[in-house]
Amino acid sequence: MNDDLPYSEACERNKAPILDVLRSAFAARARVLELGAGTGQHAVYLARNLPHLQWQPTDQSQYLPGLAARIRRDGGANLAAPVLLDVAQPWPVFEVDAVYTANTLHIMSWPQVLDTFRGVGRVLPPRGVLAVYGPFRYGGSHTSPSNRDFDAMLRERDPASGIRDLDDVIPVAAAAGLELLDDHALPANNRLLSWEKVR
Ligand SMILES: C[S@@+](CC[C@H](N)C(=O)[O-])C[C@H]1O[C@@H](n2cnc3c(N)ncnc32)[C@H](O)[C@@H]1O
Repeated sequence: MNDDLPYSEACERNKAPILDVLRSAFAARARVLELGAGTGQHAVYLARNLPHLQWQPTDQSQYLPGLAARIRRDGGANLAAPVLLDVAQPWPVFEVDAVYTANTLHIMSWPQVLDTFRGVGRVLPPRGVLAVYGPFRYGGSHTSPSNRDFDAMLRERDPASGIRDLDDVIPVAAAAGLELLDDHALPANNRLLSWEKVR
């Protein structure tokens, strides 16, 4: 192992439960765009275990060197070199039929969340699938005390960030042509939400 690579312990814990859901959510998909791929641990693991997919990781510029290094070291043939994508900037052109993103919506500002859904709505064809992993609120309430504490920490660090409420996200997704398909409860009070592009 190369300890110099960026590393997330949480990714090691959550990658298998995420894979379990994506096995069915992405069963009929072929090309995945990942937003905010971070350390690349999800990209490496999910692409390896979903070999029918071509996986395209992306992230902001400051994450690209570490992400590229992990993919060079650990990636297989179905995992592409990462591409620069800041959701608030013009998006490169992708031919994909699925989008995956983990632990990003609560890090971004709300305008960037809007950019994310607008961008996903543009890149996905009809029947395309968006899968989003992370913590969410429901009807203004947190799903656990630990998520409430996490949200407070996020907002203290960056007032523009914070755990999003699914009730706020659903209409934003709908405006981008995305209809909520599934909401899976995953360990540690996280969710895996999937949307389908319906128009
Ligand atoms: C907490 S990390 C999650 C990384 C990885 N997906 C994971 O689950 O470990 C948050 C990610 O959101 C990404 N992100 C934040 N703002 C973004 C933006 N404007 N455009 C694209 N990605 C963004 C960061 O670059 C970072 O990769």
